[in-house]
Amino acid sequence: MSKKKIAVHPLTLIPNHNVGLEISSWDERKKSYEVIVAADESLSTETQNQLAMLSKPNCFIPADSLGLYREILAKNLNYLANDNSLSDLIKLSIICEYTRLRLSDALDSLSFEQWITAAYSNAKDFDQYVENATKGKTESLGRKVLFALWKEGTYVNHSFNVGFYCYLLSKCMPKKLVEGLDPVECMVSGILHDVGKLTNDIGEEDTPTMIPPVGPLVINPIKKYDAHPSIGFKLLLRYPIITKLPLLACYQHHERHNGKGYPVGLYSEEIPIGSSICAAANRWDGLTTERRGSKAISRVGALQTIQSEKSLYWNAEVVQCLAKLMS
Ligand SMILES: [Fe+2]
Ligand SMILES: [Fe+2]
Repeated sequence: MSKKKIAVHPLTLIPNHNVGLEISSWDERKKSYEVIVAADESLSTETQNQLAMLSKPNCFIPADSLGLYREILAKNLNYLANDNSLSDLIKLSIICEYTRLRLSDALDSLSFEQWITAAYSNAKDFDQYVENATKGKTESLGRKVLFALWKEGTYVNHSFNVGFYCYLLSKCMPKKLVEGLDPVECMVSGILHDVGKLTNDIGEEDTPTMIPPVGPLVINPIKKYDAHPSIGFKLLLRYPIITKLPLLACYQHHERHNGKGYPVGLYSEEIPIGSSICAAANRWDGLTTERRGSKAISRVGALQTIQSEKSLYWNAEVVQCLAKLMS
């Protein structure tokens, strides 16, 4: 009987140290590490070497260790800022992983309204943790955190990934272009941009629902894919907690620079900067992570693709910032 394993980010697996996991074996056939929960000790040279070795996209822990893994991640967030033995990259990876897991839990168990509230509160906490752990040095972390976000393609990870890229872009764009843009709201816009695909109505998978889902949410693989920005917009409109930026980003993240996007066909400057950021972040994650029906491509390949599409689809300043962050 094979035991279920959960993909985790390699850099959060700091053997014998903060996160408290250690490698048990390398599975050559599956090209993945298996790890077990270990004791809490200080970071050694050997550990550093293991961390270097762990820079692989696939790393797994047994499902029955996930609760403990989550617990240790949460506990260690409190110590991150003052722990000089950890690099900013490792700190940020732990923060990303923790937020990603919290959002996964919320998606599996909360109502639509609670899920929206969870998105705001997780984004706010995330911002706080990142500020404390990196002292605002997020500009240099873009390309490195790709590892932190390199997950098997599922929608909840996609939501978090896009949220994170929106956050990073809003922080690193030239100030005059993003005046008044709140990084927390930008992150929420990424987390919620595809809510139009969510439903709890498993029985009618092909019918987009306009009724806010109640109870655990599932992904609705709707055939009318193009409808999800409008459906999401109409759902989000009903909740006073939703601010303008995430609302518009949800509605406009498939608008394109050349006016050939949907649902409206807005042209160039008609697309607000927050929505343009979300659109580019969505494209970036779509290219760099494995999704249903498409393989992940390299960071360099993704940048080339986005650059080549720039004049047609994306805001030039956003692409410029993305290139600076990721190259
Ligand atoms: Fe979308
Ligand atoms: Fe998306």
